[in-house]
Amino acid sequence: MNPLKHVAIIMDGNGRWGLKYENSRNAGHKAGLKTVEKIIKETIKNKIRFLTLFAFSTENWKRPKKEVDYLFNLLENFLINKIDNLHKQNIRLKILGSKKFSNKLNKLLDYSEKKTSKNTKLQINLALNYGSKLELIDAFKKIKRSHNKINEKNLEKYLQTKHIPDPDILIRTGNTRRLSNFLLWQIAYSEIFFEKKLWPAFTEKDFNKIIIEYKDIKRNFGNI
Ligand code: IPE
Ligand code: IPE
Ligand code: MG
Repeated sequence: MNPLKHVAIIMDGNGRWGLKYENSRNAGHKAGLKTVEKIIKETIKNKIRFLTLFAFSTENWKRPKKEVDYLFNLLENFLINKIDNLHKQNIRLKILGSKKFSNKLNKLLDYSEKKTSKNTKLQINLALNYGSKLELIDAFKKIKRSHNKINEKNLEKYLQTKHIPDPDILIRTGNTRRLSNFLLWQIAYSEIFFEKKLWPAFTEKDFNKIIIEYKDIKRNFGNI
C-alpha cells in the first residue's frame, strides 16, 4: 500500500456548475467553497498531512472583474469566519503564489498564515495568484543570485513548496485534461486523476475512491 502524504487538487468546474444550476458562474464558486470544506474534513479523516488547493491562477486575472472580485470576496469572508476554527483544529494555512491583492486581503492572508504557522495536523496550501512557470523563473533567479550550483536540491530550496513533499496524488475535476500551469516541477511523479464531475459536485465518496485506487498503484519512480 502506497503511503499518502500529499494530495493536490485543481478545483475546476465551478463556473459551468453555476451556469447550469443557477444561471450564474458566481453561484458555482459559492457552491465550490462547500466542497472545499467537505474535502478538508475528509483529508483529516484520511490522516493526510498536506492538501494543496488551486484556487486562482496567474492567468485567472483575465476573467471579468465582477467574477474576480466575487472570488476574492468569498475568500475574504471565508477566512474571517473560519480561520479561528481551522486554527482550533490544528490546521496550518500556507499561501502559494504572490500576494498581490487588496491591502485588506493581503493582511488577512498574512494574519491567517502567521496565526496557524505552528499547527501540525494538516497543512493546507492555498494556491492564489499562483503560476508554476513564474515560480520556476523566480527560483532560477534566486539561485543565480546566490551563486549556488544549479541542481535539483538547490532549485527546490527556492520553490514556494520548500519543506512540502511532492504531491502523491493530483486530482483535476471538471472533465478537462490539462495542468493549467500548476506545480509543473512538483508533479513529476504524482499519480494524476482526471475527474469528470465539476468541483461543486465532487463528493467525499469520489475523493475516497481515488485514494483507494491510488493505494494500490505500482509506483516505479523509474525503477522496475
Ligand atoms: C474554478 O472553476 C476555478 C477557478 C478559477 C476559481 P472555473 O471557474 O474555472 O469553472 P469552469 O471551468 O469555468 O466551469
Ligand atoms: C485552473 O482552472 C485554475 C484553477 C482551478 C484555479 P482554469 O479554469 O483557470 O483552467 P483553464 O483556463 O481552463 O486551463
Ligand atoms: Mg475552469
